[in-house]
Amino acid sequence: ALKIVTIGGGSSYTPELIEGYIKRKDELPIKEIWLVDIEAGKEKLEIVGEMAKRMVKAAGLDWTVHLTLDRREALKDADYVSTQFRVGLLDARIKDERIPLSHGVLGQETNGAGGMFKAFRTIPVILDIINDMKELCPNAWLVNFTNPAGMVTEAAIKHGGWKKTAGLCNVPIGHRKQAAEKLGLPEEDLFFKFAGINHFHWHRVWDKEGNERTAELIDLIYGPESESESHLKNIHDVPFPYEQIKDLGLLPCGYHRYYYIEDEMLAHSVQEFKEGKTRAQVVKATEARLFELYKDPKLDYKPKELEQRGGTHYSDAACELIASIQNDKRTDMVVSTENNGTITDLPYDCIVEVSGPVTGHGPEPYNWGTFPPAARGIIQVMKGMEETVIRAAIDGDYGAALHAFTINPLVPGGTMAKTLLDELLIAHQEHLPQF
Ligand code: NAD
Ligand code: G6P
Ligand code: MN
Repeated sequence: ALKIVTIGGGSSYTPELIEGYIKRKDELPIKEIWLVDIEAGKEKLEIVGEMAKRMVKAAGLDWTVHLTLDRREALKDADYVSTQFRVGLLDARIKDERIPLSHGVLGQETNGAGGMFKAFRTIPVILDIINDMKELCPNAWLVNFTNPAGMVTEAAIKHGGWKKTAGLCNVPIGHRKQAAEKLGLPEEDLFFKFAGINHFHWHRVWDKEGNERTAELIDLIYGPESESESHLKNIHDVPFPYEQIKDLGLLPCGYHRYYYIEDEMLAHSVQEFKEGKTRAQVVKATEARLFELYKDPKLDYKPKELEQRGGTHYSDAACELIASIQNDKRTDMVVSTENNGTITDLPYDCIVEVSGPVTGHGPEPYNWGTFPPAARGIIQVMKGMEETVIRAAIDGDYGAALHAFTINPLVPGGTMAKTLLDELLIAHQEHLPQF
């Protein structure tokens, strides 16, 4: 019988997770679900935790749902540990977005200056969790959803030494659904290959007759006739430059907008900033509405309103990954995992986001090979930036942090890099003991 632990259990996404477990009740012999949070999230944990209990009961299951602020008690003998915490909660995200934007620089949850600061706050915590896991549940799998998911997963595997870690994101799921819909074919009849790093990956698509459909999809999704579409609630819908995508011959992910059309995305974000409507501010209001709904003692299912969050369908990743490891199902999934030569342009021991079957011993990604030069250069810069961020997060080294800021494509170098870094270091001081 399984003991599953979720750290950051007070997240408004928890009903999504519970729904995913309920859907897979025949594949997952669950006995206990432990939702862990901290003092600052206590109230959220209680509200969403009670809702989780109602969902389990309504499904007629005898699983026990435990709510706790004692992480060590929860981790004892756990089989799977999933993480969905946000150090500093949404108020910290508001700073990540608003401080850069106040200087006319892109502020975003996982990209640019904001993403790097989310990593600085989060990486020491994930390493701490791993230290507890070494002692309390040495055989557990760590399923990381916490953003920036790629960097957090790399820190867990390479620096924490926790090999049984898989990083997840819902973005590839959206792209799979989008391709199936555009081609008018069932998703199961398509074969996908994704490669890159978290929130910076590309993909190719084939049909079951063996024909590659990537070029056709580029036309259908980004061509002159098509209406642009970001299927992600959190990414503003600016069309990609068609000729450029066609030239690359790979389908981009939604987050490439921040790099390929940086000026338009920035202009839009600055507008939101001026109106007091950055994504974090909008999400804070959505979250408040969700928790009002969760308080209703009659609500025992995931409300529609949760679709307003960018991470909708995320349980299709998290719960399926667990079911696939547990049963050696070999479901074809996109996971942040060790490169091991899958992408020849990147270091062997770094973490990449790639597709492949998830076996009883974890992901076994398909070989991707090399990127065309136009993608190779930028992904190598991005990976070098990530490695530098992780080093700064662990050592608290100011020079490394400044270097990461300087090489990040979304942060201008020189005095601006330094100004932003210094301002963010002060703003987030309480969550950055290492600096
Ligand atoms: P949130 O602000 O609601 O935070 C979730 C919970 O984490 C809160 O209840 C908070 O109190 C708790 N928390 C903070 N520090 C903690 C700690 N040290 N230990 C335990 N709990 C702690 O966040 P959210 O908007 O629900 O998002 C949760 C996380 O999941 C974020 O990191 C977000 O970026 C990530 N996320 C990732 C994806 C993905 O694609 N990988 C999708 C959606 C959300
Ligand atoms: C996407 C990404 C997540 C990100 C989320 C933000 O789904 O995959 O990594 O956390 O959007 O959504 P939000 O509603 O918090 O802006
Ligand atoms: Mn994601």
